[in-house]
Amino acid sequence: MSRQLVPGGVCRLILVAMVTGLGLAGPAQAADAAEAAEAGKARYQYILNCAGCHQADGSGAKSGGVPTLRGQLGHFVSIPEGRAFLVQVPGTSNSPLKDGEIARMLNWMLQAFSAETLPAALEPYTEAEVTRLRNAPLTDVSATRRAIVTQLAERGLRVE
Ligand code: HEC
Repeated sequence: MSRQLVPGGVCRLILVAMVTGLGLAGPAQAADAAEAAEAGKARYQYILNCAGCHQADGSGAKSGGVPTLRGQLGHFVSIPEGRAFLVQVPGTSNSPLKDGEIARMLNWMLQAFSAETLPAALEPYTEAEVTRLRNAPLTDVSATRRAIVTQLAERGLRVE
């Protein structure tokens, strides 16, 4: 019965389409799918570990002193101290996530919450970098942030 519904000629056409046109799009599609899967894992871990305070959309909670991650994370990564701070801040550093998971999550957060502020030459965070920074905890989080905010302001980059 099914042979009548899908005649052999149609099957051959589909096969030809797959081998030719669709076949060419294959590797790129696979790369996109892998990237989407990585982003999905990062987002999932963000929701589980961070969104309770930072909100699913990264907007934070002013009343609770939770800074927004929207439209300004990219400014932080434009200077080395700011780039380090995003890893060393207790919310990130003290999370139960592994170093590689934090690297992936920060790379995703930068794109998801602050794509418009990213510096042109942005090196993604790596697992080794997160390991190194996590092993050097901040002694005074507020003072470190204040110094970074001042440095950014001198470059005309405003952070809330
Ligand atoms: C219990 C609430 C809470 C949780 C959970 C939390 N954070 Fe935070 N986060 C804060 C607060 C409060 C600050 C402000 C700095 C401080 O006091 O530590 C902050 C600051 C930050 C900053 C610096 C932003 C800035 O503008 O200074 C980043 C980046 C960040 N958190 C990322 C994360 C990530 C990633 C997670 C999840 C792995 C997370 N946080 C989980 C409360 C939280």
